[in-house]
Amino acid sequence: MNLSWKKLSLFLLALAIAVGALVWEAYVQAQQPVTISFLLRAVEADQMQGLAQQFMDENPDIRIEMVRGPNAADAVENLYTTSFLLGDSPYDILFSDVVWIPKFAAAGWLVDLSDRVSDSDLADFLEADVAAGLYQDGLYRMPFRSDMGMLYYRTDLLEQVGLEPPETFDDLITASQTIQAQTDVDWGFTWQGLQYEGLVTNFVEIIAGYGGFWIDPDSLAVGLDQPAGIQAVEFMKGVIDQRISPPGVTNYIEEDSLRQFQNGNVAFLRNWPYAWAEANREGTAVAGNIALKPMVHAEGQQPAACLGGWGFGISATTPHPEEAWRVVEFFTSPGPMKDFITEFAYVPSRRALFTDPDVLATFPHYEQLLEVADTAIPRPPVGQYAQLSDILQRYLSAAITNQMTPEAAMQAAAGESRRVLGAEG
Ligand code: GLC
Repeated sequence: MNLSWKKLSLFLLALAIAVGALVWEAYVQAQQPVTISFLLRAVEADQMQGLAQQFMDENPDIRIEMVRGPNAADAVENLYTTSFLLGDSPYDILFSDVVWIPKFAAAGWLVDLSDRVSDSDLADFLEADVAAGLYQDGLYRMPFRSDMGMLYYRTDLLEQVGLEPPETFDDLITASQTIQAQTDVDWGFTWQGLQYEGLVTNFVEIIAGYGGFWIDPDSLAVGLDQPAGIQAVEFMKGVIDQRISPPGVTNYIEEDSLRQFQNGNVAFLRNWPYAWAEANREGTAVAGNIALKPMVHAEGQQPAACLGGWGFGISATTPHPEEAWRVVEFFTSPGPMKDFITEFAYVPSRRALFTDPDVLATFPHYEQLLEVADTAIPRPPVGQYAQLSDILQRYLSAAITNQMTPEAAMQAAAGESRRVLGAEG
């Protein structure tokens, strides 16, 4: 009898210790912050660090982990795609380019956010930025910042040679050649010619500047092999052949062309609005001597800007959708968005910020940017976007590196694109 009492009390003691340990572990777990992770281009991870820190200071129960990826947008997309295909994505959030949503939403990789956002809040965002997050009846991406391609130029060099900023493609060529001949600047025009998504965005602006189009979003007609498509490629190849653009431009992404412009050895740069703050940073060879304007175009046509931009989706497999939403809500709310765009000269996704007095005090040109934002050209919002972009990238690259004529390249690209779109059914 005595022995069994002893056994029982020992058993009860062990049980109490075990339960205590479990309770303690649960308590400790509950005190640990939840980690919300996402992947993004390394340049942008550096820039967003300040906001992430502010969020973590205000929300000690959540830790934001920003994984630094490659600086080419579509290389980041490939990494996300692989991780989602493998089933158990380590990312709670998809930091998404403006062109990714149809594919990610159709695959079921994202959470529908429509119930979390009121119509009145959504109405403050640029229409095109919101549209890029819609798939069927759902909203899968909250816009964080918008983007549009612009032409930067050196005011001092134009003044030196006595020319006005260029309006047309021909003006750009003439101004470049004049500056190259009359000043010690070696190059006329730098842009993004590597085989990657940025090349496509440069092309979208140039083909539209010739009055053409890549893919009509309504009819899904392909315009690559029409005269404007071929002229656009001829222009891109022509500026390299004429040594207006450096031969290395076929390997450039945004950062490479920006660095060349910052170093003072080129007169014109096609880039996104963030390049303004970077190029004007104290200590660059060009600070204070630059201006920006809409892209050049053919005589009788309009300038065109490609719509870019980034936003947040929430992964369908995250164990922490509530915490992920708190992060998304923070970054996309007016205060943090304002701080971010004012520090880095990014374009806001919220309309009110374009006319905000503080923003205008730093960037007086933002009032005009709203108009550019509202007319910027989206890339085709289709589920096979990545494939279509890949086709275009390959053939553009083949043409500007002299492996195919512009005409042959665009005919082949148009044919392959039509097959992909036809297969959509
Ligand atoms: C910018 C744009 C993005 C685009 C990318 C191409 O990051 O915001 O939309 O796809 O450049 O390089």
